[in-house]
Amino acid sequence: MDLEKRDFLKISAITASAAAANLLLPRGAFAAVFDSAMPASAQAADESRPRSVQTAAAPFSGAIGMDACQSLDYNEMAARSPMIQASWQYLRREAERIEDRTLRALINDIYGNSSPRLANLDSGSRKLVWEQLNAAGYTKQDRNNFLPPVPPDMNDRYPCVAAPGSGYGSHHAYPGGLITHVAANVMITSAIVDTYKEVYGYDVNRDIAVAAQLLHDLHKPYVFQWLDDASSRVEQPLAGTGEHHVLSLAELIVRQAPAELIVAQACAHTHPGNETEENQVVNWLKAAAIIAGADPVRYGLLDASGKTLPLPRRQEGFICHLGDHDFVLSVPAVQWTLPVMREIAKRDYKLSDNDLRGKPFNSLRNMVYSQVSAMRLEHAYVGGRERVRALMHSVVRPV
Ligand SMILES: [Fe+2]
Ligand SMILES: [Fe+2]
Repeated sequence: MDLEKRDFLKISAITASAAAANLLLPRGAFAAVFDSAMPASAQAADESRPRSVQTAAAPFSGAIGMDACQSLDYNEMAARSPMIQASWQYLRREAERIEDRTLRALINDIYGNSSPRLANLDSGSRKLVWEQLNAAGYTKQDRNNFLPPVPPDMNDRYPCVAAPGSGYGSHHAYPGGLITHVAANVMITSAIVDTYKEVYGYDVNRDIAVAAQLLHDLHKPYVFQWLDDASSRVEQPLAGTGEHHVLSLAELIVRQAPAELIVAQACAHTHPGNETEENQVVNWLKAAAIIAGADPVRYGLLDASGKTLPLPRRQEGFICHLGDHDFVLSVPAVQWTLPVMREIAKRDYKLSDNDLRGKPFNSLRNMVYSQVSAMRLEHAYVGGRERVRALMHSVVRPV
């Protein structure tokens, strides 16, 4: 598991949010994403899929050969995936549903241009930021490596659609994993907002809750940069959590996002429901403010004391946190299916032990996960290894 999540599983909350997602989201919204998520051949291999969903498969070009698989890069894999493309379209539609014009413009700006403005820090500012972070105990990295390197191909169109959604051993470790992770989170978040309305009879600020979720991992393309061996960069800790979280908050400060949005997003990794947890959120905001060169109290990120979130605490942060629990099942989904995939890769794709440790296997797993998801593969695995095998074959033909 990457550093993104603390070791804290609120099982009851997850169950509630998952149930809410199933019960309250319009079927059309789900269908738009998931009906197109499976190649027809893979659907046939997964017999447990409900018939009503099987009837609406998106066009899929079918399995490719191993040589073609090895030659595709992460952008091409994401582009070939109906699941990722549908998830991306869903996120763009959700962004358009944000009523606040400024918020909507901010999301569209970031989605259209995910290059971090933080990367533009000059060397003098970097030195100053590192000194402050180090003095506060937020980083133990040396001053030259406390931020991710600027990717060589980074420009104003650095792609977020093909970014992984986690570290390479964790929950969405494949091209387009970020988009599928965020799409799942946004659906769950919307359902929680609807649940509070339906059950308790009040409206939270939907714009803030959904916008926080839409943007919550916005720095992952920067932190989890793809490497030459088709794996991704290893994340470093920052202020006690994965650096992507603090950097995402800092990016929003740099972009002058509303304080209530940044505070809600800061709660993605934990909730401010008790002093210990809230202290973590406060520290993430303080570290982000250091990086962005802002005063967190004056900006409205913290209460005047500087020790708590603005009081009284708003509910949207709790909802953002609940909505970001897609990792509970998706982490083991990757970890449980990888050994099975390796076994099949050796037998059916003739990969050597050496191949399994490098690009040949990484490209194969990237292709399979990006087309059918680790979640779907794990679900197939419940029915037996042969189902995993059939799903893999439906994406990449055996050798
Ligand atoms: Fe995160
Ligand atoms: Fe996340």
